[in-house]
Formats: sequence, structure tokens, C-alpha cells
Amino acid sequence: MLKEIYEQPSAILDTFRGRLLSKEAIIKMSGVEDNMKKFLAADRIIIVACGTSWHAGLVAEYIFEDLARIPVEVEYASEFRYRNPVITEKDIVIAISQSGETADTLAAIKLAKSKGAFVFGVCNVVGSTIARETDAGAYTHAGPEIGVASTKAFTTQITVLTLMALRLARAKGTMSSSEFRHHLIELETIPSKVEEALKSDAYVKTVAEIYKNSTNFLYLGRGFNFPVALEGALKLKEISYIHAEGYPAAEMKHGPIALIDEQMPVVVIATKKGHYEKVVSNIQEIKSRKGKIIGIVTKGDTSVKELADHVIEVPETLECLTPLLTTIPLQLLSYHIAVMLERNVDQPRNLAKSVTVE
Ligand code: F6R
Repeated sequence: MLKEIYEQPSAILDTFRGRLLSKEAIIKMSGVEDNMKKFLAADRIIIVACGTSWHAGLVAEYIFEDLARIPVEVEYASEFRYRNPVITEKDIVIAISQSGETADTLAAIKLAKSKGAFVFGVCNVVGSTIARETDAGAYTHAGPEIGVASTKAFTTQITVLTLMALRLARAKGTMSSSEFRHHLIELETIPSKVEEALKSDAYVKTVAEIYKNSTNFLYLGRGFNFPVALEGALKLKEISYIHAEGYPAAEMKHGPIALIDEQMPVVVIATKKGHYEKVVSNIQEIKSRKGKIIGIVTKGDTSVKELADHVIEVPETLECLTPLLTTIPLQLLSYHIAVMLERNVDQPRNLAKSVTVE
């Protein structure tokens, strides 16, 4: 798992290599280009996936809606397949799957196709069943992911989906050419920024040491980083067996705040931009209830530093690209806690790498 966490700078680079041409200010993705008419005519995009891939879908919802102004719904494939969903020929279904073999995602694809929707796959495993069953697609180029807990598959899925959203934004004219170029240039810097985020490893390990015996964790984020909070909690649960929940930060006051006391570590993603002030006020609420705050902040942050027990810095980037960076310390935190608890991080109990049964 650690090897795969550290492979993310090159995996992300491999995923946009040959697709993102910043000098020419173009994005080349044949699966999108060949079906551009369908994408432009689509009433909405429905994303189907499971687990971590579903979290990547949630990040994509924010990105597609914000940049390309296309309505997006994100569905658990297991629910979608059984609830008689309304699907029309004007829907585009994007199925996200690292393995390309997940039974529920495959069933959701078959259902969508039977209703006439165009289905686009985002898979990592070349030639996998989902890659073959979909009408078109784009591969992530993460390389083989062996660890059961998905890490580089997640960040490369977000990379592919961001490229798609940018390409569609340009085609739809929802983004100016200068904004588009700016996003491409910034996306190109992400591998080196992930590299920088990985430098927090030693500090994250000291934080892990302090909280490794906690029995519960709360993860909070807003906007683009709300799905990252869900993913951080999932990573901790699956490899350390510590109970963790992810929430949109503002939902805290609708229930989870009752859990907060001096025993409760709360990981808060509080990067600059993205409702920063509102997240800071959420942090104040946690502090006044004596919760322990681990803030994931933008480099150079001062406000959260004053309130939080620990801050882990990530480099600054465009708001829509922050999930690619904020995810890194959360992966490291769960990894270190699990190792300290002597868990098998690569093969956690009860889990399989690809879930080919429902
Ligand atoms: C979590 C994890 C799982 C998978 C899920 C979907 O770390 O790996 O939640 O994300 O089983 O798998 P794929 O993406 O192969 O369809």
C-alpha cells in the first residue's frame, strides 16, 4: 500500500500524459472526442460505482457541474440496479471501476444500456469486463493496484474525470480559453505537488502515534473535499478496523456533534478557498467541545493552526484540484495507524480486491 501511495505522482502523470497538451491548450481523449455529440446533447450524467470509485464519482459530480455545467447524479451501483431508475436515451452513464469486474457496477451498466443510455467506462484494468461492456471509455493509467485499499486508483480516476470535465467545458463554452489554459497548466503541476504532499509522511506518522488507540474518528470536508472526507474515513475503517465516519462539515450540527468530546479525533479538510471561513467556524465548534482537531490545510495557513491540535500542510492549487492533494495525508494517516496496530494493510480481513459477487 505504501508503495502505491508513493506511486501517485507518476500514476497521475501517466494518466494525463499524451492527453493534456498545455502548450497547444488541448485535451485529447478519443473516447470523449468520438462521442462529443452525445456528450453535448446529454440532459444529465449518471455516475455509477462502488466504494472508493463511488467517492471519485462524487468528486467528479462537483467538477462536472462546476466546470461543464452538466447536471450529475452519483449512484451506488448496487442501489441503482435494483430501484427501477428513470433512464433515457439522453442520459450518459459513466461507470467507474478500478478492477473493471465489480458485479454491481457491471449490472448497473447492463441496465443502463438496456434503457438506451450511452455508457462510458473509467477503468484501470485494460480489457476488463466493464471496459469491454461499455460503449466507450478512458483508462486510468495507475498501473496494477495490488493493495486491497484503493489509493492510486482513486487519484487517477479523479484525474481522468477532471480531464473529461475540462474537455466538455471547453466544448460547451462554459469556460473561457484563458481559464481552460490555466486549469491545464495547474493540473500539470499536480504530480510535483503530490510529491510535496508526500513529504508530510514523517509528521503524519507522529500524529498516527498519538491517535492510534482511538476507537472512533470523524472526517469532515466541504464542497470538492466532502467526498475526500468520506474516502479518508473508508481508508481508516478498512485497514485499521477503527470506526470512522465522513460527513459534510456543515452536517455536523445535525447529529454527529453529539459525539464530540476529548476522546474524539476529528480530521478536518480546511484548505484555502472552498468555504474556508465556514470550515474554520466548524473547527471552532469542535474545539469548544474539546474534540481533537487534525487539520489538513493549505501551506502557510495561520487561522486553522491557531485552533487545531495538529495541522498537515498540502500545497496550494485550484479549488477543484485540491482532492488530489488532500487525499494524500489521509491515506498516510490510515496506513501508519494500521501498521502501528499490526494490521495487514495490504490484505485487510474480510475484503477482496475485486468484488465479483453481489
Ligand atoms: C476501497 C476499495 C473498494 C473499491 C470497490 C470498487 O479501498 O478498494 O471500496 O473501491 O470495491 O471496486 P472497483 O473500483 O474495482 O469497481
